[in-house]
Amino acid sequence: MLLRSRAAVRVFLLSSLFLFLLNFHPIASAQSKAKPGPWMNSSLSPDERASMVLKEMTLDEKITLLHGTGMAGLSPLSPAIAQSNGGAGYVVGIPRLGIPGIQMSDAAYGVRMSGENGRYSTALPSCIAGAATWDLEGGFEYGALIGRELRAQGYNMGLGGGVNLTREPRNGRTFEYMGEDPVLAGKMVASVIKGEQAQHVLGDIKHYALNDQESGRNAVNVNIDERSMRESDLLAFEIGVEESDPAGVMCSYNRVNGDYACENKYLLTDVLKKDWKFNNFVLSDWGGTHSAAKASAAGLDHEEPGWIFYGDELKKLVEAGTVPQSELDDHVHRILRAMFATGVVDDPPIKSVVDVVGGFEVAKKLSEQSIVLLKNDGGQLPLDASKIRSIAIIGPHADVGMISGGGSAQVDPPGGNAIMPPGQGQTRWLQPMWFPTSPLRSVRAKAPGAKVEFDSGSDPASAAALAKNSDVAIVFAYQWESEDMDLPTLSLPEKQDDLIAQVAAANPHTVVVLETGGPVTMPWAGQVSGILEAWYAGSKGSDAVANVLFGEVNPSAKLPVTFPKSDADLPHPTIVKPPKESMPNWMKPDVWKQIAAGLPPFQIKYDQGVKVGYKWYDAEKKPVLFPFGYGLSYTTYSYSNLRVTTGKAPRITFTLTNTGSRAGSEIAEVYASLPASASEPPKRLVGWSKVALAPGESKEVTVDVKLKYLSIWDVKQHVWQLIPGDYGFMVGGSSQNLPLKQSVSLN
Ligand code: BGC
Repeated sequence: MLLRSRAAVRVFLLSSLFLFLLNFHPIASAQSKAKPGPWMNSSLSPDERASMVLKEMTLDEKITLLHGTGMAGLSPLSPAIAQSNGGAGYVVGIPRLGIPGIQMSDAAYGVRMSGENGRYSTALPSCIAGAATWDLEGGFEYGALIGRELRAQGYNMGLGGGVNLTREPRNGRTFEYMGEDPVLAGKMVASVIKGEQAQHVLGDIKHYALNDQESGRNAVNVNIDERSMRESDLLAFEIGVEESDPAGVMCSYNRVNGDYACENKYLLTDVLKKDWKFNNFVLSDWGGTHSAAKASAAGLDHEEPGWIFYGDELKKLVEAGTVPQSELDDHVHRILRAMFATGVVDDPPIKSVVDVVGGFEVAKKLSEQSIVLLKNDGGQLPLDASKIRSIAIIGPHADVGMISGGGSAQVDPPGGNAIMPPGQGQTRWLQPMWFPTSPLRSVRAKAPGAKVEFDSGSDPASAAALAKNSDVAIVFAYQWESEDMDLPTLSLPEKQDDLIAQVAAANPHTVVVLETGGPVTMPWAGQVSGILEAWYAGSKGSDAVANVLFGEVNPSAKLPVTFPKSDADLPHPTIVKPPKESMPNWMKPDVWKQIAAGLPPFQIKYDQGVKVGYKWYDAEKKPVLFPFGYGLSYTTYSYSNLRVTTGKAPRITFTLTNTGSRAGSEIAEVYASLPASASEPPKRLVGWSKVALAPGESKEVTVDVKLKYLSIWDVKQHVWQLIPGDYGFMVGGSSQNLPLKQSVSLN
């Protein structure tokens, strides 16, 4: 309740803030005709083109490109906002030079705020579900759909690409990220961004960096040593940047080792721009800018959503010579080059009807590939529709919908929230949205000959009675997550553990389908016969789940995060919460000035260092509920014949056989242990291959391992270093089932 009233106040105050932020903008109304300049020659390089434009620009025009103009719905009086397309940000272009404005929309698992704008977009399965496919081509398709729908709705920039590692699985944005492993997360986010940018929109990777919990995000100071951050959270960004060349990197709200991320020279300049050779632009998270001179010198190129610092203040600093002209020009050059490189100048978006039908197909297929089969005792699944006479569908709202992830990632369900908060007529910030994808209907369609009945589970005894009288009971359990909050615990809310336990006690053929943003604890895991992790399954989630339940699709996904046994096993059993003075006061009209000025820091010490996810449980020898990389299939696979050859980089070759009677795809995982002198956790993921196999078929699989993935970060020389010695390579179907092992010496 407290959160809900806070959210309402927040919307009101945001409106006031933007009225304050957005005074008349001189460039906004400049609509003069484009002068066709030599930079319009698309055979020139993006850098050449950017330099040519830059030479023509006035100081005011340069400043214009370095900040947003507010958020459309919240700043109705801004003249510039009249040209906004209704997304999270709008940057005024330079029409006289043919440089379009930047229309930004949040787009983590689909384009946000479509409903508010009278439009529609597809909800893909959440980002963590995308990572569970371990499928780089699927990731490309994921991004391509978002890119197409951004364009269709008139946007030329998508704000998605969340790749913060799951250091803290109770983080309310876990569903928006790609799991706990830097190599998997980095490669998956890169494939999404490549797909998105191939549609000629600007992509972005966020939130850089170590924004691993939401609690106190505007104040928290994350303490972590250099080696740990380079080998964990930053490595995910490094791979993402290196492999996809995103137009933008969004710096995060939090502080890292003393400085806010958006004015952190180490993160923005030393690492991102110098080490990783990132040539495009850094934009601040919304309200994440805290200075002009310091941020500019540290490498922040662009302020969002307004111009507290990167407007008049920056202009004056440039005029006074405090901020060098060359520094300002570099910021502008980066934005222009990103625009040329991604094609938004040459191929601006044209509004059109979103391909709803095509989107459904992609959403369904990706969801099917993301559903992880966690338990299947006695071949409970797949269900045989010809033999089952009765099915109980149990769980909150399983008759009408499936839950989706909230916050700025939220995609609007067509027709509105399937479970509209009573008396509201609309769903507000920090309220859950249910997509109209009905498990009850989808299961009925699969089993037309069976009696399929529903019980919400609000009275566990009545649900158990229905389960008792049914051949099979399927419980749809959920845990909702959103930006701007963390979960109090990994336990399911609304006494669902109790519900599941009672249903399982009534019927031994109980299957649980989880709709969660990340790991949850399952005290009932030993009592049920089947468990599916469906994540937030998107627009066609219930059809995808039904296809897996009834075996039309053989599950192939693997967990991108560890499911621990309890909160007590986490590196930090409780989340560090901010003291009162580190929280923005949403009752104050100038709250954003308060945030911009910097809230008093409180400390989080990531003393588990590089031991994120499975590396923590391995090193601490803590048993887990379901390990990283785990997932069952309706068929079985065997691994044999490992060979490791070392040339320029290690090449891992092995034979994978489908030993069962169904076709399937296996994600074969390769891990490495480093020489003891490296002092690393027992193993790390260094590669994988997803292989489709007919029943009885064998294939030889090859995985080339990059030396960087075998290296440690050398804090003396600030480089990746391969420690000479013996490396163990392990291959198998999960981080805890690695039947093939071979050691080789590398130096
Ligand atoms: C979020 C970003 C988002 C931005 C714009 C912020 O609150 O942290 O991820 O892109 O808002 O909506």
